[in-house]
Amino acid sequence: MVRTMLSKSAARAFFLAGTALCAVAFVGLTVDTLGRIPKQTRQDQLTEPVRRGKHLWDRSNCMGCHTLLGEGAYYAPELTKVIERRGPVFVRAMLTDPEKMYPGQRRMWKYDFSEQDKDDLIAFFTWIGGMDLNGFPPVPTLGLGAPPTGAAADNIARPQIFNQICVACHALGGQGGKVGPALDGVGARLSAPQLTAWLRDPPAVKPGTAMPKLPLTEGQLDELTAFLSALK
Ligand code: HEC
Ligand code: HEC
Repeated sequence: MVRTMLSKSAARAFFLAGTALCAVAFVGLTVDTLGRIPKQTRQDQLTEPVRRGKHLWDRSNCMGCHTLLGEGAYYAPELTKVIERRGPVFVRAMLTDPEKMYPGQRRMWKYDFSEQDKDDLIAFFTWIGGMDLNGFPPVPTLGLGAPPTGAAADNIARPQIFNQICVACHALGGQGGKVGPALDGVGARLSAPQLTAWLRDPPAVKPGTAMPKLPLTEGQLDELTAFLSALK
């Protein structure tokens, strides 16, 4: 008689060896994954401000409207990469008075954060934004004011702060927000001193204006003035 099937003992050996092999592979991969977590999450950079920011995030129920790492509610933008997308100046302004950054559509609560709270939340967003998430999130989620990519009328490089914060409200070369006027040709309308004064404190120049006073550094003011002056 030709045996076409395994004998009982061979089948048992096959089963045991196969199970053992899979178990070893499973344990090995689990250990490997766990071993990567500290590096992917940058555990060494979990500083005190980051921890405090995380607690503020939890206590303030930001997840009632936002997602972080894809978890939370889908009412408001995903915030994992918000520092990369918007920069700390914008995030700080948002945490100070959201209505000023999105005039006329106040849907985010105005919190009563101290300056340290804001620093802590920014530290938390910076930390989480630097995590290695294997490419998540795939694309920026907020349509409003996505950094322009096409060729624009500007011949000098756009300051980073311009792409992070100004395009939320202003268009240039046809791309950007519509809260404020398009900035094409603004260098011909306003002189450098006028531009600097405006950017330093819009309400001081024009009381009641919808452009908020942004916490820009002197360096950023110079950079922005040089950039805008060249838009003729
Ligand atoms: C009641 C819902 C709600 C809650 C709660 C909320 N937000 Fe928001 N948030 C929004 C909405 C809506 C926007 C989009 C801007 C708008 O239209 O006002 C936004 C925008 C933002 C932005 C700017 C995002 C971007 O890409 O422009 C940041 C940063 C932010 N929120 C942080 C927070 C933090 C931190 C908390 C918790 C402390 C929080 N939010 C709680 C609704 C909320
Ligand atoms: C929250 C929305 C908002 C943001 C953010 C914002 N602006 Fe404005 N901006 C406005 C509005 C609204 C006006 C029109 C003000 C008015 O006439 O009362 C304006 C006006 C201006 C003007 C005058 C334009 C003209 O033709 O007279 C300049 C220049 C300007 N903004 C530059 C900037 C720059 C540079 C940034 C980034 C640092 C910026 N703005 C960020 C809303 C914004």
